[in-house]
Amino acid sequence: MASALRPLRLLLLGAPGSGKGTQTARLLKQFPQIESVSSGDLLRQQIKAGTPLGQKASLYISSGKLLSDELITKLIITNLSNRKWMNSSASWLLDGFPRTVKQAELLDAELGRHSAQLNLVVQLDVPENVILERIENRYVHVPSGRVYNLTYNPPRVPGKDDITGEPLTKRSDDTYEVFGKRLKEYRRTVTPLIDHYAKSGILEKVTGETSDIIFPQLVKLVSEKFGE
Ligand code: AP5
Repeated sequence: MASALRPLRLLLLGAPGSGKGTQTARLLKQFPQIESVSSGDLLRQQIKAGTPLGQKASLYISSGKLLSDELITKLIITNLSNRKWMNSSASWLLDGFPRTVKQAELLDAELGRHSAQLNLVVQLDVPENVILERIENRYVHVPSGRVYNLTYNPPRVPGKDDITGEPLTKRSDDTYEVFGKRLKEYRRTVTPLIDHYAKSGILEKVTGETSDIIFPQLVKLVSEKFGE
């Protein structure tokens, strides 16, 4: 059921495979006035289009490394500006950015110039053994960023996107080896980032292993803090 919202500027934080993309899709359905940007989806679209940025991103992504703070921040801020989100009362959500303190500081400075600071950060806390099981079964539709899982939310027709019927693919960074590196990068960067947002008093954490546990907590947080 859709509900009204005061302007929400939300960051979803969490380990690779914790369900940021999945929870984003569910929140957008529940609150149609929210829009979202995923740094990973933007990069995968650039790779698919074969742009110079995509070629560079491909090297980092396929080896499980983070792109430079300056490069990714420029990409996201340009995207936010093009959508005119910083100069309006729009409600929006970021998935996958910022993920270092440097990125958070650069974003804070830019949003501060527009009096449009983030007003909620939610950390999705999912045990690593649960995450590893999920990744083996993940398939994606790159143009839209839609995410499937062969056991949790399989496509209606095997191998095809539910909306467009286009083929689904496996991500190049979902191999056992690269996924391990991504988890390591996350563990290295997350604590300072959490500390950064805890200081500004906008950090919340939701913990759980299943969709039925995480999603209601997220809806409650958004409704309580931003519902009208
Ligand atoms: P990115 O695309 O952001 O990947 P990530 O953060 O590693 O997160 P994932 O997309 O893997 O997982 P998710 O949390 O969205 O989980 P999902 O919903 O798919 O980044 C990729 C790369 O781009 C980075 O490694 C880096 O190189 C680069 N990059 C991106 N942002 C950057 C930045 N800011 N700075 C520098 N570099 C950057 O769920 C996972 C699976 O589990 C799915 O199959 C799903 O169906 C299933 N699932 C989800 N929830 C549940 C549930 N509740 N129960 C059962 N299954 C579930």
